[in-house]
Amino acid sequence: MQRRTLNDLCLAFMLIPVSLGALYHDPSQLPRSAYDYVIVGAGNAGNVIASRLTENPRTTVLVLEAGVSNEGVIASIVPFLGPSLAPNTPYDWNFTTTAQAGINNRSLSYPRGRMLGGCTSVNYMAHMYGSSEDYDRIAAVTGDPGWKWENVKKNIGKHERIVPPSDGHNTTGQYIPANHGTDGILPVSLPGNAQAIDPRVIATTKDLAEEFPFNEDMGGGENILGVGWAQFSIGGGMRSSSATTYLTAALNRPNLDVIINAQVTKLLHNGTVGGLPSFHTVQFSRSPGANTTAPPVAPSVVSATKEIVLSAGAINTPQILQLSGIGPRADLEALHIPVVVDNPSVGRNLSDHVLLANIFSVKGNDSLDDLLRDPALLSAALTQWNSNHTGVMSGSVGNHVGFLRLPSNSTIFHITPDPSAGPKSSHWELFVADFFLSIGGTPPTTGSYLTLASFLISPTSRGSLKLASSDPFAKPLIDPNFLTTAFDIFALRETAKAVKRFAASAAWADYIVGPVGGLASTTDSDIETYVREQASTGLHPVGTASMSPKGACWGVVDPDLKVKGVEGVRVVDASVFPFVPNAHLQGPTYLLAERAAQLFKNDM
Ligand SMILES: Cc1cc2nc3c(=O)[nH]c(=O)nc-3n(C[C@H](O)[C@H](O)[C@H](O)COP(=O)(O)OP(=O)(O)OC[C@H]3O[C@@H](n4cnc5c(N)ncnc54)[C@H](O)[C@@H]3O)c2cc1C
Ligand SMILES: *[C@@H]1O[C@H](CO)[C@@H](O)[C@H](O)[C@H]1NC(C)=O
Ligand SMILES: *[C@@H]1O[C@H](CO)[C@@H](O)[C@H](O)[C@H]1NC(C)=O
Ligand SMILES: *[C@@H]1O[C@H](CO)[C@@H](O)[C@H](O)[C@H]1NC(C)=O
Ligand SMILES: *[C@@H]1O[C@H](CO)[C@@H](O)[C@H](O)[C@H]1NC(C)=O
Ligand SMILES: *[C@@H]1O[C@H](CO)[C@@H](O)[C@H](O)[C@H]1NC(C)=O
Ligand SMILES: *[C@@H]1O[C@H](CO)[C@@H](O)[C@H](O)[C@H]1NC(C)=O
Ligand SMILES: *[C@@H]1O[C@H](CO)[C@@H](O)[C@H](O)[C@H]1NC(C)=O
Ligand SMILES: *[C@@H]1O[C@H](CO)[C@@H](O)[C@H](O)[C@H]1NC(C)=O
Ligand SMILES: *[C@@H]1O[C@H](CO)[C@@H](O)[C@H](O)[C@H]1NC(C)=O
Repeated sequence: MQRRTLNDLCLAFMLIPVSLGALYHDPSQLPRSAYDYVIVGAGNAGNVIASRLTENPRTTVLVLEAGVSNEGVIASIVPFLGPSLAPNTPYDWNFTTTAQAGINNRSLSYPRGRMLGGCTSVNYMAHMYGSSEDYDRIAAVTGDPGWKWENVKKNIGKHERIVPPSDGHNTTGQYIPANHGTDGILPVSLPGNAQAIDPRVIATTKDLAEEFPFNEDMGGGENILGVGWAQFSIGGGMRSSSATTYLTAALNRPNLDVIINAQVTKLLHNGTVGGLPSFHTVQFSRSPGANTTAPPVAPSVVSATKEIVLSAGAINTPQILQLSGIGPRADLEALHIPVVVDNPSVGRNLSDHVLLANIFSVKGNDSLDDLLRDPALLSAALTQWNSNHTGVMSGSVGNHVGFLRLPSNSTIFHITPDPSAGPKSSHWELFVADFFLSIGGTPPTTGSYLTLASFLISPTSRGSLKLASSDPFAKPLIDPNFLTTAFDIFALRETAKAVKRFAASAAWADYIVGPVGGLASTTDSDIETYVREQASTGLHPVGTASMSPKGACWGVVDPDLKVKGVEGVRVVDASVFPFVPNAHLQGPTYLLAERAAQLFKNDM
């Protein structure tokens, strides 16, 4: 997206800020020295825990957030502007990956939200839960039936409130009401920004029903395969994040304090409990770059008398664990970090979806490309949004998704077992966008385009997250190890062929001109070259603080999310997923956090 144009326009539009309660802007304002729980990170999961734990008025909670407030950040409110929030903005951690051998040694931007709401304040708002088999597999791998879908899905009602789309259209046949919550905390809706290509997508599901069947509800569960209308964390034409929902609901409670611009640097242990090193102290500093005229502050500490909750996300959580002496011995010793617990799994098994933005040139000017180039069109759309929260700005960047499998006779299955979560789960995802989707790049200045992006959903490559330095402010070494297995490159190559079959439907015959760039290649080896040149992050890292069975010789947390080998710390965020689910990650992370909140309450 052309971020400069978007940002300039954003500045021109003012909003009434939502005022919050016990929100402190600087670490020097820490109001007390001890809380029952100290949560690290006010992101997707952290805000769920903060909100649920403070429902009990006797429980005190502090949340420390390194980033800024979401308040008044217009691009985090107007759904279509979301993509302008990352990478490399004041709302991003600005991470990059190490050089990735599987994609021609390219190093990629690796965006992560750095504000209240975390990634839910900067993401593209696609909202879905994944396949039932994703959860059943976690239950099988961890030996804890509590993670089975039949249990986890009970949290949907508490979490989700399905609301009408911003254009108020009749959504009958676009989702299955019984699969959704109507009374939960977070507004979710079907797309309210009809696009010219929508009927063609649906017509393709009829024309090519064998390979791309219509699915009436893409929200997740027992029946995810097929192509249909996506759901979004959008209500009333505005983004729903964990900050606008869970955190806002909790902030006027006297038992919750939140400090922004406060970066946690390590966890400290004192003594042992039950023979395990006991961690109850969190050390934090003013975040580098914080906008303040206040005098410098020394690093501060705060105590969590009951538990510390690490919810800093799949990159920062394993970073903090390693800074605290919990991680692979050799790695820590090389950086002169005293080893408290030698755990070789911390930061290992990093797994992510892989994105391939397959672009087609199209006829006419009905695509959204002109909108993204022409400040006058953008301004008109923002004026409409400002008047009544409708129009193209009230929706995200695409209206349809598909979850699909490789053909079962694919040759790759002769040499590798099927890595999907099960027969009702996918190998890849189709994501349709009505313009040239260029994440963090520069789209062409002329022409009209269609993006049939494909995500590798069942990757077998595993990477790592290591410290570059013992300096807590140094960026860690992020190595997702993209496309380094035969399965991964095969599968992504096959998705490029599949989207061309989708585009060959009669439904597009008078619209699509042809594939752009390397997507036009016809031999496997040329398509593979295209894949390695174009593949990027799917923005869904997991696995760096993986759950495993209690007593297992691998893994970072037990199925109750307690960090192995220590007392006093749990991890609640996407880093505990052992496998990346069949979904964009916010939905699974919300369900994970809702279940985790129940685990805390059970222990009270
Ligand atoms: C650009 C982008 C687009 C995406 N699009 C979608 C989408 O459309 N749909 C979807 O479902 N998912 C999407 N995702 C992914 C999804 O939003 C995330 O995977 C998920 O929300 C992560 O949740 P989390 O709780 O693990 O971490 P986060 O939400 O990242 O929360 C971690 C929080 O901890 C804070 N923190 C980190 N370190 C420290 C520290 N040392 N001290 C204090 N605070 C700290 C961070 O600033 C952040 O607020 C997208 C992600 C990105 C980046
Ligand atoms: C990320 O980059 C932006 C733009 O250069 C900058 O404003 C912001 O402070 C950076 N954030 C971090 C955490 O370095
Ligand atoms: C990637 O880097 C490695 C190590 O420097 C080198 O051996 C290899 O040829 C490079 N690959 C490409 C495609 O440039
Ligand atoms: C929505 O459409 C369905 C099916 O076409 C129809 O049965 C229903 O009455 C419509 N609902 C409203 C509120 O118009
Ligand atoms: C460690 O510190 C915490 C918080 O101050 C305290 O509650 C706990 O009793 C201490 N543990 C030991 C073993 O001293
Ligand atoms: C910094 O904060 C001051 C006072 O709160 C505000 O006026 C100014 O606009 C802020 N600057 C930035 C870059 O956010
Ligand atoms: C990575 O995960 C697998 C299970 O998927 C496990 O067997 C292996 O031990 C893990 N590796 C590390 C270093 O934790
Ligand atoms: C869009 O295309 C039509 C014909 O294809 C043309 O009449 C119209 O002027 C174009 N609109 C813009 C804004 O370019
Ligand atoms: C919203 O405003 C636009 C013009 O800005 C108008 O065309 C549209 O009908 C309005 N929609 C609703 C639901 O009021
Ligand atoms: C798989 O089966 C389909 C349908 O029977 C067939 O067209 C295709 O050639 C087969 N592919 C392979 C690799 O055998």
